[in-house]
Amino acid sequence: MAGGSSRNIVLAAFAAGTILLVGAVVAVVSSNPFGASETTLPKVQIGGPFSLTTHTGATLSNDDLKGKPFAVFFGFTHCPEVCPTTLFDMSEALKALGPDADKLAVLFVSLDPTRDTPELLKDYLSVFDPHIVGLAGSEADIEKPAKAYRVYWRKVPTDDGADYTLDHTATVYLMDGNGDYADKIDYQEPLESRVAKLKALIGASG
Ligand code: NI
Repeated sequence: MAGGSSRNIVLAAFAAGTILLVGAVVAVVSSNPFGASETTLPKVQIGGPFSLTTHTGATLSNDDLKGKPFAVFFGFTHCPEVCPTTLFDMSEALKALGPDADKLAVLFVSLDPTRDTPELLKDYLSVFDPHIVGLAGSEADIEKPAKAYRVYWRKVPTDDGADYTLDHTATVYLMDGNGDYADKIDYQEPLESRVAKLKALIGASG
């Protein structure tokens, strides 16, 4: 008897979950006027609050970005390839946007609190587009948003063991003016596609 009723509860919960899931998919499909490739998955929970120090020494939090869409990428200045490539690609896309580049914020969050001071970030970013804002913080300050953005990162000792590098996610997350996940740019995605996604992000958020 008790077993039977708990089984019914489980079945009811499962049915309710299925209905919610179907509802979410239908909502996404019906609200998206674009291509079919974007309409198959429910909205993803990516992103969350942060408060970090910019490369010019100011404090920047997610609240400061309310109403402004942004692109955010997590990396570190000693990165041999992925970060410089991504920052170069982002600089190229921002240049292509022209004056519209002012309509979004572009953030580079350091995953290396031990080495990446705001001063080092400032030097490092000086060769890239000036719209890109470097963000530094304590390990705890960085871990919070990194986990909220589902970023993977791991310290790896260099061959001689004297130093370390970081393996990390190479995705650029595109967030709308409400701080909600809108889209992403993959590593080495073509320029045309990068620019189109940034334009869509700006257009969608005013
Ligand atoms: Ni990197």
